Amino acid sequence: MPEAVQLSAVDIAGALLALGLLVALLVLLIDTLRTGIAPMPSTARVRARMLGLVPPDVTGTLFELGSGWGTLSRAIADRFPDTRVVACEVSWVPFLWSALRQAVSRRHNLSLQHADLFDAALANASVVFCYLGPAAMERLAEKLRREAAPGTLVISNTFGLRGWPHDQVEQIDDLYHMRVYLYRVPDAVAASAAAGRGAWAWLRRASRSTVG
Ligand SMILES: C[S@@+](CC[C@H](N)C(=O)[O-])C[C@H]1O[C@@H](n2cnc3c(N)ncnc32)[C@H](O)[C@@H]1O
Repeated sequence: MPEAVQLSAVDIAGALLALGLLVALLVLLIDTLRTGIAPMPSTARVRARMLGLVPPDVTGTLFELGSGWGTLSRAIADRFPDTRVVACEVSWVPFLWSALRQAVSRRHNLSLQHADLFDAALANASVVFCYLGPAAMERLAEKLRREAAPGTLVISNTFGLRGWPHDQVEQIDDLYHMRVYLYRVPDAVAASAAAGRGAWAWLRRASRSTVG
């Protein structure tokens, strides 16, 4: 007769841990496919540069859209302790990790939200930090135009806002040579004039290529 398998508490704990890790990996993968970008954190140098672009006397609310594991949002909260920081992240695993970090070592001015960044209300934003993919940046550009006050700073790692003139762009001197972009949300009149100029230039190019 076969012997009954005896499982110790350590075996059971190990099996549960492995199962938990597997589920977490699966959820992470599904969320990454859904958002189109993995929760890869900005490097220390990029973080330092992004923070360096914020005026020291900034007021209003600082948003981090797609805050991943919470490293950048905690750095923002530390640098500007008297300013409200809102970090929003839709992917469960990095969000729960950042919530755990907040529970262990709370930043009083940091509010973490498990939410889609496209649902964030940006009317009171003074600065928007992001590190998103090209498709999300395109949608974000529309949202900023609609909601954010003119002059709101947008500080983006790697991906720019297509068609927006940047105030500054810097290549970081590290292994990845990432770029950090600084934009200011234009006022509605300037934005529509720029769009008009763009359309006019396009029409001129189109008519030249038809004639020639
Ligand atoms: C490349 S990571 C950047 C993390 C962090 N911002 C940093 O710079 O260290 C991009 C993050 O944006 C999140 N994200 C992408 N689309 C999102 C959306 N629609 N709403 C909320 N978070 C989103 C992803 O889940 C991911 O964690």
